[in-house]
Amino acid sequence: MMISVILISLVLFLLSAQFLNMQWKSCGFPPGPTPFPIIGSIWWINFRADHRSLKKLAKTYGNICTLWLGHRPMMVLYGFQAVKNGLTNNSEDVSGRLQTYIFNKLADGKGILVSNGLIWKQQRHFGFGTLRKLGMGNKGMERGIQTEARYLVEFFRDKEGEAVDPSFPIVHAVSNVICAVVFGHRFSLEDKTFHQLIEAFDYIVAFGNSRFYYMCEMFPWFAEHLPGPLQKARFSRDFVCSFVRQEIKSHREKGRIDEPEDFIDFYLKQLEKTKNVPNSTFDEDNMVQSVFDLFLGGSETTATTLRWALLYMLVYPDIQDKVQKELDAVLSPSHLICYEDRKKLPYTNAVVHEILRFSSIVLITIPREAVKDTTVLGYHVPKGTLIMANVDSALFDPDYWETPHQFNPGHFLDKGGNFVTREAFLAFSAGHRACPGETMAKMELFIMFCSLLQKFKFTLPEGVKEINTDFVFGSTMKPHPYKLCAVLR
Ligand code: HEM
Repeated sequence: MMISVILISLVLFLLSAQFLNMQWKSCGFPPGPTPFPIIGSIWWINFRADHRSLKKLAKTYGNICTLWLGHRPMMVLYGFQAVKNGLTNNSEDVSGRLQTYIFNKLADGKGILVSNGLIWKQQRHFGFGTLRKLGMGNKGMERGIQTEARYLVEFFRDKEGEAVDPSFPIVHAVSNVICAVVFGHRFSLEDKTFHQLIEAFDYIVAFGNSRFYYMCEMFPWFAEHLPGPLQKARFSRDFVCSFVRQEIKSHREKGRIDEPEDFIDFYLKQLEKTKNVPNSTFDEDNMVQSVFDLFLGGSETTATTLRWALLYMLVYPDIQDKVQKELDAVLSPSHLICYEDRKKLPYTNAVVHEILRFSSIVLITIPREAVKDTTVLGYHVPKGTLIMANVDSALFDPDYWETPHQFNPGHFLDKGGNFVTREAFLAFSAGHRACPGETMAKMELFIMFCSLLQKFKFTLPEGVKEINTDFVFGSTMKPHPYKLCAVLR
């Protein structure tokens, strides 16, 4: 009895001391909800960063505020000015990625997306340098995208106007662009391994911003020992990694490193080149994780945006009409769409950008971490502080967009109908960790979107009057499943 009283008193004393310590520590940070020991202040947003909770947070505490993820402070940036300045003013200082229990379990600090320091610098530099060598942003990759666009057109043509869910064929087309570059081959629509790979990535992405994810970060012991989502996420990750290792093995057997044809060949050549270089970060684990990251970063995002693109064409048939009129006026019906065509198609280009803005598929960046003591928006930020930028709030900032909550291609057009870029267009984030795949994504979206609209009029299935434009909440904001009819023009 006595022992229990002593133990309880001790725990209460420790918790109170922790509580006071956290209040004291939070003094130098921007305002925010009261942090408590163990759970921090993430309870205030109901253990999930969604649109509503982040908006409420900014309304209550301002555009620069603090949430505590357990015992770690996290600055939350809201609205264009805070997001842009916070990520770019001392860009290198805030270029770290948060290292947490889950991230370490899933990526072990390797690859590009959640790595840090020398590993991040070398893998990002090499990864995207190699993609450029393989044609990213030029004719080389354009041919790959045109090929996938052609398969997608064939898919819809074969359906002969019958109602169909476009999701999987779109995911298939977009993923195949990256597969061709990384593995040197594409998958057929029926391929079982391909279906399993997509399922595995989907699961990891959905896990990323779920309540369970935050719980696992706060209570790693339970996450480790209870069967459940974390185990499934790890299983999904292992499945993808063993597939990539299999690909590496077969590339090794082909022995093409003197005349590399795809990303894996180039990486194997790099391994050979750097095998005696001290401190080199090029090894098989980083190769597997980089491939994983290119696939994760490059397919789900672009495919989700393309799914929104077709959905918006159903919801706004007048805009679909206008795009088709522009395509017909400028290009011959048999013209093979290329990225250069955007210069002659300002309205269509504006529509593609408005799709990226309005669908706003990335709500928040994967949190950054201050790599040294620095200043963010006038606040002293100690090394290790997390920074979470609400990209979505910049894309809908009423001070920067005329009609933020309307789908309005005019946001990207001047009075003369010419295409204009907008400073608040931060769909690909900003600063040192901004998306390195922006050009590739825009190229894919433009070519696939135009190729489809050149050939088909998209309509709602007979009898369907309305379509759900709400998103399904996850790491990316996806549309609800829907069906459409692609009628040959
Ligand atoms: C519509 C398509 C896409 C959108 C909206 C998008 C958006 C983003 C955003 C917001 C970030 C986070 C940046 C930050 O932390 O500040 C990011 C990072 C990243 N993206 Fe994309 N992305 C897209 C397509 C692509 C493509 C096609 C690739 C490559 C093949 C790619 C590869 C990556 C990688 C590797 C990172 C991590 C960069 C780093 O941590 O250094 N993304 N993307």
